[in-house]
Amino acid sequence: MFVIAGATGKTGSATAKTLLEAGKRVRALVRDPKKAEGLAALGAQVVAVDLTDQAALGKAVAGAEGVYLLSPPDMAAKDFVTERKALTEKQVATLAAAKVPHVVLLSSIGAHLPDGHGPVRTLYILEQQLRQAGVPATFVRAGYFVENWGAVLHPVKQDGVLPTFFAADRAIPMVSTPDIGAVAARALLDGPRGFRAIELSGPTDPTSNEVAAAFSKLLGRPVKAVEAPLEAVVPTFTSFGISENVASLYREMYEGFASGHLKAAAGETVRGTVSLETTLGALLG
Ligand SMILES: NC(=O)c1ccc[n+]([C@@H]2O[C@H](COP(=O)([O-])OP(=O)(O)OC[C@H]3O[C@@H](n4cnc5c(N)ncnc54)[C@H](OP(=O)(O)O)[C@@H]3O)[C@@H](O)[C@H]2O)c1
Repeated sequence: MFVIAGATGKTGSATAKTLLEAGKRVRALVRDPKKAEGLAALGAQVVAVDLTDQAALGKAVAGAEGVYLLSPPDMAAKDFVTERKALTEKQVATLAAAKVPHVVLLSSIGAHLPDGHGPVRTLYILEQQLRQAGVPATFVRAGYFVENWGAVLHPVKQDGVLPTFFAADRAIPMVSTPDIGAVAARALLDGPRGFRAIELSGPTDPTSNEVAAAFSKLLGRPVKAVEAPLEAVVPTFTSFGISENVASLYREMYEGFASGHLKAAAGETVRGTVSLETTLGALLG
């Protein structure tokens, strides 16, 4: 039986569905079982567990063949890295105590690097915590989610403008979440192989200009990528209710991409199959 955390989220639901379609038993960890009725209908055992509750987490992972773990966003955090480090330390101790034989962690591009990548530092720390606790783990180091472009659909549709904090002609490893689900499910089925890292991106590494061109094709009218200065990251993110601390981490992440510091490690590389156009089309609905 495989245990999937964040099963109502984009990657957790994709991982769970892939395993269910392969005929595997799945225990889906959710906060609100009502949000997982679709997974229950597909045969998943749905269990209400808050990932901050270590007693509940320990019970939920007992006897699992493998666990899909993610570190969900916390856009309101006052000190995201410190707070998350304390939480993941407890979660890793829970997984170690339960003798979970294999964890597949949703990690990120750049998580092999100790710093200079904003929120990715939490995943660097979590990878280290799993290693130090001796919990066999596969790190799925996903590129920038194509679904992140859903945040700018309004200016894209309204004004034909794709605002971007990337240099418009810079190629960025991007991946669609169904590809993450497929790769995470595959890794769970493969079982533990010591500590394994998979650098995961989509079929291409598009530039923002190419993302704008794909939107333009889908909408049948011009869409232009317009670079926003990095000084605008914090004011823009905080204007959406994101904490100053988290917004500053995102600025550091964009700086990391801009300087070329934030990039994939050498090693096992996997490219997904879901095209940029497919996911942008799904976002447009
Ligand atoms: N965005 C990127 O470009 C990028 C790139 C690389 C890696 N990542 C990683 O991907 C993660 C996001 O993955 P995703 O898109 O699959 O997530 P998502 O769609 O945002 O969903 C988050 C999931 O976590 C659950 N959750 C949140 N807090 C919880 C708690 N305290 N207890 C139990 N469940 C909780 C949510 O449950 P509810 O439905 O109850 O809210 C939801 O199922 C990021 O946090 C980051 O670590 C992101």
